[in-house]
Amino acid sequence: MQITSFEQYQEVYQQSVNEPEQFWGSIAENFVWKKKWDNVLSWNFTEPNIKWFEGAKLNITENCLDRHLLTDGDKPAIIWEPNSPEDDSVTLTYKMLHEQVCRFANVLKRNGAQKGDRICIYMPMVPELAIAVLACARIGAVHSVVFGGFSAKSIADRINDAACKLVITADGAYRGNKQIPLKDVIDDALIGCSTVEKCIVLTHVRTPVSMLKGRDVWWEDEVKHVNNVCEAEEMDAEDLLFILYTSGSTGKPKGVVHTCGGYMVYAGYTFSNVFNYQPGEVYFCTADIGWITGHSYIVYGPLSQGATSLIFEGIPTFPTPSRFWDIVEKHKVNTLYTAPTAIRSLMGFGDEPLVGKDLSSIRVLGSVGEPINEEAWHWFDEKIGHQKAPIVDTWWQTETGGIMISPIATVTPTKPSFATLPLPGIQPILVDENGNEIEGNGVNGNLCIKFPWPGMLRTTYGDHERCKLTYFSTYENLYFTGDGCLRDEDGYYRITGRVDDVLNVSGHRIGTAEVENAINMHAGVVESAVVGYPHDVKGQGIYAFVIFPAMHGDVELTKKDILQTVTRVIGAIAKPDKVLFVSGLPKTRSGKIMRRILRKIAEGDISNLGDISTLLDPNVVQEIIERASEKK
Ligand code: PRX
Repeated sequence: MQITSFEQYQEVYQQSVNEPEQFWGSIAENFVWKKKWDNVLSWNFTEPNIKWFEGAKLNITENCLDRHLLTDGDKPAIIWEPNSPEDDSVTLTYKMLHEQVCRFANVLKRNGAQKGDRICIYMPMVPELAIAVLACARIGAVHSVVFGGFSAKSIADRINDAACKLVITADGAYRGNKQIPLKDVIDDALIGCSTVEKCIVLTHVRTPVSMLKGRDVWWEDEVKHVNNVCEAEEMDAEDLLFILYTSGSTGKPKGVVHTCGGYMVYAGYTFSNVFNYQPGEVYFCTADIGWITGHSYIVYGPLSQGATSLIFEGIPTFPTPSRFWDIVEKHKVNTLYTAPTAIRSLMGFGDEPLVGKDLSSIRVLGSVGEPINEEAWHWFDEKIGHQKAPIVDTWWQTETGGIMISPIATVTPTKPSFATLPLPGIQPILVDENGNEIEGNGVNGNLCIKFPWPGMLRTTYGDHERCKLTYFSTYENLYFTGDGCLRDEDGYYRITGRVDDVLNVSGHRIGTAEVENAINMHAGVVESAVVGYPHDVKGQGIYAFVIFPAMHGDVELTKKDILQTVTRVIGAIAKPDKVLFVSGLPKTRSGKIMRRILRKIAEGDISNLGDISTLLDPNVVQEIIERASEKK
């Protein structure tokens, strides 16, 4: 199923558009099914109701594990590189991973988990995280992985939304020279979670933790009580595989739902093609399994293709900014898939960290999560790929399940900062505000997709109406991505960023409304408005305008209190980079905040604020401008 030339891509693409069902049906033949489908696709975008491979039965772990045992059992499935280079790395072959997944699947059963139960996973980037995810899939439980940077309150909200029965965590995680007390955070979260019956705790950093009788059990003890034989549960193609929460333009994150069959086919097909993965190669994706990139391109995509997936617990700058390059050299990494924010941050250290590093194993480079600026693209190309490794700038979303618009490595001619062309089966269109298609090349518009693909979300957990409203109601009969996009003279796509109130901070998606809600929880805050502004390393920074009338004492301390509040409510990832105290916000007469004006001020571009005469109190704008310039 690998495409090897541009001409072939063009042919395959045409076929995938002309005969989508035949196309995906033949791709699906490359996977192991317990029973084949009766029907490849039935769909409508109005409800929406999307079903791929209806009637088929499978278990995704048989595709990721069992099927490789005979031929590739001794091949490394996972290589784990710890936070500190002084600690040993760990290699798990497909046989070992299979054995551990089955064993842990039995631990889940022993602790009451059954097919369909939701299980929250809050763990460090260790092999056991992949094992926990796969063990859930093995028994047909639905995993909901929560990124280690979220607060107790965020976890509790996610656990309650999905009514999770079990939690899998660890005592703590390493992050550079810091330790994150994961179990403590879970303990705080579980105070408000009545559905959770058991919490399985892995020992990792060996920090003391509280263990509640009847609820908390140790991973290491539990695995001693079970054997390593666990039949893979038979799943319907449209049974839930996982829920992953993501931010939107409202205050509450939504649980994006992916199902077993279509997601598997899409993650596997796109992994194999986009990275042009070759047997025996080492593939290193630097994302965290807590995000969709980790789900699709650390766990399911690579393992379904029998690849060797390298997992890294640490950060790019610890103990030195050579860390990535040392890992590449040590494990002879062939593919490096990372985020523009990491590239920009490493670029900032100059050439020194690269001196003497052998990067000759690198064959393919990848970028994901946010637009990559040309400077970072060229640095990546020259310094890391030595202009020999194609860069795949992969555009996609939590909701899309897998890569949608991207070069295919060694096949598609690349262009700096362009995601280039849609993958087979993906039919993008650009529309104007009214939903009219913008045809031709050299045009800008809102990016929509007009035909289903197997990896797409099916619903938002517990609230189908919300799925319909968010993605399928803005424009009739189209999936709306929330992104703005340029199609250039060559028909190449360049994603220009979100057109809704969603920020992309270091590749993490954060809703402005969520941050505002968190700031407003501070006792002294009357109101706030949050916008994004260009940030050299993070891509976007968070700028908060806050009305705080009764300031007692120190302004700087009050700012820190606000940051602390956000950290408690959402997590440190959502902390504003700038807080400006103001006495009013620019509002229309109907009370709507004019974010456009705040965005301009945050960007430091006040030359053209547009018409402000419709504001309730135009004077407020001048005051904000003055305060913002004082702050600089
Ligand atoms: O705005 C786009 C941006 O990230 C958003 C999706 O975020 P999330 O669901 O967290 O998934 C991130 C990892 C797939 C998109 O709506 N985005 C993602 N990849 C790119 C991108 N923007 C530009 N170029 C990309 N390659």
